[in-house]
Amino acid sequence: MRKLVYFIASTLDGFIAGPDGSDPTGPGGFWSPSEDYIQHLIEEYPETLPGPARAALGITAEGVRFGTVIEGRKSYEVGLAAGVTDAYPHLEHLVFSRTLTQSPDPGVELVDGDPAAKVRELKHRDGKDIWLVGGGGLAGALHDEIDRVIVKLSPLTIGSGIPLFGRTAAFAPHAWELTDHTVLKGGAVFLTYDRNPGATRSSSTAGPA
Ligand SMILES: NC(=O)c1ccc[n+]([C@@H]2O[C@H](COP(=O)([O-])OP(=O)(O)OC[C@H]3O[C@@H](n4cnc5c(N)ncnc54)[C@H](OP(=O)(O)O)[C@@H]3O)[C@@H](O)[C@H]2O)c1
Repeated sequence: MRKLVYFIASTLDGFIAGPDGSDPTGPGGFWSPSEDYIQHLIEEYPETLPGPARAALGITAEGVRFGTVIEGRKSYEVGLAAGVTDAYPHLEHLVFSRTLTQSPDPGVELVDGDPAAKVRELKHRDGKDIWLVGGGGLAGALHDEIDRVIVKLSPLTIGSGIPLFGRTAAFAPHAWELTDHTVLKGGAVFLTYDRNPGATRSSSTAGPA
């Protein structure tokens, strides 16, 4: 069965964006990924780069991990504000919203039902794993359905912002097992945690932190 993977950039203090919800990595943003961070994404997670970035970098390869991407309406609108109606044309792309009535792009499917029910349906389809982009609000609603969390931890603290699971998630403690990690020289750490880990465990270190 396909996994739901929350693949998400986080500050050291557990935030995925600043308080105003604008794009922290955009022009004038406070979050500048290091070169080795970008390189690691290109090498290990090329399908998670938006279409325009893939085109600029000449990346055409299909991803090995994800076949479907899902996101909340507010995360989707970050791309829309930059004029990108489908940031992931190379993946099946679903956006959860109860207010959008018409998809701005034929490649983007709007879903207004219960996210957990939709994810359970998606998991039973054949294909590669499902990438939960975020944001925190949707992740909070899908907490019970997430099988793997890959945190791209940046050496940055911001004090206040949108938490990893949003501001309104229910209190529901879950234990996770660390199944992979990569430490980058620029100070970022990629941490993979599984809810129900299989027999395989791996780790890698790209250099001293
Ligand atoms: N650090 C990262 O890697 C990363 C990744 C993605 C996003 N982000 C950031 O995250 C921020 C957006 O996150 P967010 O938490 O504010 O919003 P979000 O989770 O992206 O979107 C929330 C919206 O999803 C829709 N939704 C549908 N069903 C829902 C349900 N059951 N529970 C919750 N939402 C549901 C609703 O849209 P309607 O109101 O239309 O019904 C809701 O307003 C942006 O600042 C973005 O830059 C960061």
